[in-house]
Amino acid sequence: MTAKQLNPAEVKIAIFGLGFVGLPLALSYALRGCTVVGVDVDRNLIDQLNRGITHHLEKYRETPIQEVLAEQLDNGRFKATANPQEALDQCNNFIMTVGIPVIDGRHDFSHIDSCARTIASGIKKSDLVLVRSTMVPGMTRSYVKPILEESGLRAGDDFYLAYSSERIAEGKAFDEFENMPALISGINDSSREKAAQLMGVVTKELHMASSMEVVESAKVMENISRDVNIAMVNEFARFCEGLGIDIFEVIKLANTHKRVKLLTPGPGVGGYCIPNALHYLTPKADDLGVPLKLLRTARRINEDIPAFVVSLVSKNLPVPAKKAKVAVLGIAMKDYSSDDRLSPALEIIKLLEMSGMKVAAFDPAVPSKYTYKVDSLEDAVSDAHAVLVLAKQNGIGYTNFKLFRNLMSKAGQPVIVDTKNLYSRTEVEEQGFVFAAI
Ligand SMILES: NC(=O)c1ccc[n+]([C@@H]2O[C@H](COP(=O)([O-])OP(=O)(O)OC[C@H]3O[C@@H](n4cnc5c(N)ncnc54)[C@H](O)[C@@H]3O)[C@@H](O)[C@H]2O)c1
Repeated sequence: MTAKQLNPAEVKIAIFGLGFVGLPLALSYALRGCTVVGVDVDRNLIDQLNRGITHHLEKYRETPIQEVLAEQLDNGRFKATANPQEALDQCNNFIMTVGIPVIDGRHDFSHIDSCARTIASGIKKSDLVLVRSTMVPGMTRSYVKPILEESGLRAGDDFYLAYSSERIAEGKAFDEFENMPALISGINDSSREKAAQLMGVVTKELHMASSMEVVESAKVMENISRDVNIAMVNEFARFCEGLGIDIFEVIKLANTHKRVKLLTPGPGVGGYCIPNALHYLTPKADDLGVPLKLLRTARRINEDIPAFVVSLVSKNLPVPAKKAKVAVLGIAMKDYSSDDRLSPALEIIKLLEMSGMKVAAFDPAVPSKYTYKVDSLEDAVSDAHAVLVLAKQNGIGYTNFKLFRNLMSKAGQPVIVDTKNLYSRTEVEEQGFVFAAI
């Protein structure tokens, strides 16, 4: 559907939360000519952004996000602030992109809560609040709306309130804000229309839904469907391993079927979205008496993959675990990403260390600091007995076999464990390594 077109030069937007979603979204609007104020509670992040620094690996067409950020700061269409008041005064469109972390299966609503309260403190008549965070279905209406209405203004009557799920994949954000179809709904028709106009500045294809709950539920189910499909293909991988056939060949051939789309197995499921998704559904499902047996099983299967990867390392080591060093290559939650939130690599490293192994992990894209993190491939592989590949990144010489041979421990035959389908068995074995793969 096509909503009435806005003149971007007249659009003023405050985006709350400048993380993996909020920052590229803010810049997407700025790139189209809107004035955007980005608000975050993390002062260090604000300071870095205003100096043009970000660790994100996004590109707008061919331009790295760092250049886009610098350009939009320069031309004044984007600025970041920790002071929400100036954003509330200056803008009339407020987009929420703060998250709901899940800790030990329990939700932390504090970010949504504080963000909604901040907006409530300065919302004006006829402003639009567009929630783009992934929500526990029903929460925009039952949780965010009452907080916003503490302002004394009523949603739907005095201000517009809408929900649109965010469907981007990190690394493709600029492209997917534009080209991934978006779902949208509002507290009433005029809210939905108002939000559709704003979204239409960046997003080409919008699908209207009858309620915000439909869009919230669709988002959570989209994420869970990926969790289930990944669990399924990881079970297929175990079967193929037992049978002595290559899972990746099976997948390639099975996917020639027009209605089959198997995903790829890997070291586990990470990131902010997929591992948390089931927990966004379970409280309500429990209330409704819906057991969600398949979904819970899939989650458990995915949670068990890190232990399986560790067993692949341990059973191939040339020395006892307590004397072994493992070089982990890639700790991001997925390939070519700087995000290591809930990364299976972190769990795998924890389990390796618990088994007595020493770990040196190298990932030039991930800014987080860990005691086991090293700054070079050389440091990682020196004296190691095994190389364990957990994510693909630019800047890691995965096939520098000569370096591996020179620097790795000479105590027994060194091992390469591949969870990313990066090597061929023959290639690795010909280079003198023991090879194991998922
Ligand atoms: N990362 C993804 O690929 C992705 C994709 C689709 C949907 N989502 C959803 O989008 C939302 C944001 O995800 P993200 O990955 O960008 O998270 P993030 O943690 O990278 O960013 C959230 C930001 O919000 C800030 N924040 C917290 N409380 C605030 C407040 N009261 N006011 C202003 N800022 C505040 C934090 O400091 C942080 O910088 C989540 O709901 C997530 O589930 C994420």
